[in-house]
Amino acid sequence: MSLISLNDVRFGYGGTPILHGVSLALEQGQNLGILGESGSGKSTILRLMLGLARPDAGVVEADGSVLETRSRSRMQAHRRLVQPVFQDPYTSLDPRMKVGRILTEPHSALNLPGDAKAEAARVLQAVGLPEDSVDRYPRAFSGGQRQRIAIARALIARPRVLLADEPVSALDLATRVRVIALLTQLSRDLTLVLVSHDIAIVAALCPRMIVLQQGRIVEAGATQDILRAPKHPYTQRLLASLQHMPMESS
Ligand SMILES: Nc1ncnc2c1ncn2[C@@H]1O[C@H](COP(=O)(O)OP(=O)(O)OP(=O)(O)O)[C@@H](O)[C@H]1O
Ligand SMILES: [Mg+2]
Repeated sequence: MSLISLNDVRFGYGGTPILHGVSLALEQGQNLGILGESGSGKSTILRLMLGLARPDAGVVEADGSVLETRSRSRMQAHRRLVQPVFQDPYTSLDPRMKVGRILTEPHSALNLPGDAKAEAARVLQAVGLPEDSVDRYPRAFSGGQRQRIAIARALIARPRVLLADEPVSALDLATRVRVIALLTQLSRDLTLVLVSHDIAIVAALCPRMIVLQQGRIVEAGATQDILRAPKHPYTQRLLASLQHMPMESS
């Protein structure tokens, strides 16, 4: 059984079609990379997987059944299955909250078991931040540390799936490498969906990948196969354009 699947999903914002029949399945332990140019619909797919958007046609399934986004209890359960990490750690953390509260708030909102403070300490340790981080505000941390805090917040729910939307593109190169190492380590225990412009990062983390172009999947399969022999002209161009800048995101 897939963790999450999209079956012939169509979606648009205010009548403008964005996704034109997207099907994909996320299997346990098989990190999935999503590549595609700006505006191709990558973040929109994550929104559908999170239940933040509802398909106009087709279905999103999670944990074996159709994701009923109107059901509060279902969405609470879904948040325990899937958690997001966004691109920009400067805007994704509330600057008025100390890190302790940033971490304990989802614990109570999701009605999670265990002691909230102990759980905060657990996730800080998991991302390699000191326990006393709880007493400080996000502004006291660097970009890379803030992204660790955002990841820690996601881990509070003990999710089985982490959806990461360009999680390192706002970071400098050295920090990027360390956050990728952290994601690699975490993906021993959870399944990652990674949106990236950077094919090198997808190759390092994701055994499966899809390539989107204007709301359609134009290539899907094992990352190694696609890198070795991209079939679609768009993927061929993407690879050719990236050859000379392996660690740069566009
Ligand atoms: N809230 C919204 N309202 C209207 N249109 C939107 C909204 N969000 C995204 N879009 C449009 O949907 C299309 C897909 O956007 P999406 O954010 O999914 O692309 P993306 O592949 O994530 O791009 P990027 O690489 O720039 O993040 C774009 O044409 C975008 O302008
Ligand atoms: Mg996006």
